[in-house]
This record gives sequence, structure tokens and C-alpha cells, in this order.
Amino acid sequence: MKLPFVIAPSILSADFTRLGEEIAAAEAAGAGWIHVDVMDGHFVPNLTMGPFVVENVRRVTALPIDVHLMVENPEQLLEPFAKAGASHLTVHVETCPEPARTLKMIKSLGCAAGLTLNPATPASSLVPALPLADLVLVMTVHPGYSGQAFMPEMIGKISEVRRMLGKIDSSAWLEVDGGVSAENIFRLREAGATAFVAAHAIFKHPDGIAAGMASLINAAHLS
Ligand code: DX5
Ligand code: ZN
Repeated sequence: MKLPFVIAPSILSADFTRLGEEIAAAEAAGAGWIHVDVMDGHFVPNLTMGPFVVENVRRVTALPIDVHLMVENPEQLLEPFAKAGASHLTVHVETCPEPARTLKMIKSLGCAAGLTLNPATPASSLVPALPLADLVLVMTVHPGYSGQAFMPEMIGKISEVRRMLGKIDSSAWLEVDGGVSAENIFRLREAGATAFVAAHAIFKHPDGIAAGMASLINAAHLS
């Protein structure tokens, strides 16, 4: 049985001179969430968006805003992002000495709490905080940039996390981020993923955003 799924366009590959229009186009084409990649120049080499961007995204869409915090010391940024209008706040297990405490803080701010891990981090690192997670994100590239090649060896980790969620009877979203495309989305869905982040495949599709969304949605349904 296949679970329902959502597509979460990552605005990291959007044209920021026309951000409102690009988000509207993704929404009209079936986007379920808008994914915002926050990078601090320390945990990852790149430096991207802060709460100010989320505040502006909040003004142009009613969709849930899925904030991916690739930052050291994420706890100090939870409240500013929640106040800016984030719906989901996802932290890296590598940046949290006490992931359960961080997830509780996120929930107390009224947001869905997400936990993610780098490709090199084992799924077992999720265990202590897993019952508190509303969302688990499996990275399928080394975080930092959009447009990187998908790491197929991460498919096993997705199946493993799906089994771990099943064991504790969790209905958390299982999200995948990095190199997601029409070529791999069906396999990811089969492995148990239910939320698909994509930047390049949507915002850099040669035929435009609607075509990029349609190709992902169609491929997710095909066997
Ligand atoms: C990578 C980010 C991703 C990125 C995905 O560090 O977390 O969300 O925008 O980009 P694509 O889909 O192009 O790999
Ligand atoms: Zn991301």
C-alpha cells in the first residue's frame, strides 16, 4: 500500500527577483509545502536565508512552510523562525546535543518538529528522539547546495527509517531531500518516503515550474 505524498519545492533554486510568482506557480501546480533551506556558513559552507525570507514567503502563500535548519546551535533560531511563520522546523541531529529537548522546544512554539541526518550519519542516531518527531528527513546529498547528484545508496536508509517508524507506530512524515527527480521519485516512494523536496527538478526544469511539478507528480505514481 502506498502512502499519500507531498511535493515540497525548495526555493533555493528559485529566481529570487520573482520569488512570489515562482511560489505561486509551484502552488498552482500542486506543491504541498514550500521548503526553505537555512544555511549558516558553518555547519554547511553555504550561507542562505534567515527569518526575513520566511516572513516574506508567509505573505505570498498559505501553504505550510517547511524550514530546514542547516545551522549550528539551532535552538537559538527556533523562535525567530516560528514567529516569521514557519510551519515545520527541521533540525540536524548532528547539531543537537539533546535532540529530544530541541524537538520539544519546536512543538512548544506551535510548529511540527522535524529531525534530519547527513548521509554519513546512521539512522540509529534518530532513535532516542524518534517518538517526538512529526517529520524525519533523510538527506540524499551532502547538504549545502541545490543541483547535486542524488546518492542512491541512501535508499536503504529510507527503508530503514520507514521500518523504525513502523515499529513505534509513528505517523511522522518521511521526507527526502537532495537530487530528487522524476528518475528516482518512484523508488523513493516505494522505499517509504512520503514528502519530496526538490529545487533543481522544479525551478530549473527546461519547460518551467508547472512542467517540473507535473513530471515529478506523474513519476511518483508510475511503476
Ligand atoms: C541541500 C538542500 C536542498 C536543496 C535540494 O542542502 O537541503 O533542499 O535545495 O536541491 P535539489 O533538489 O536541486 O538537489
Ligand atoms: Zn533542504
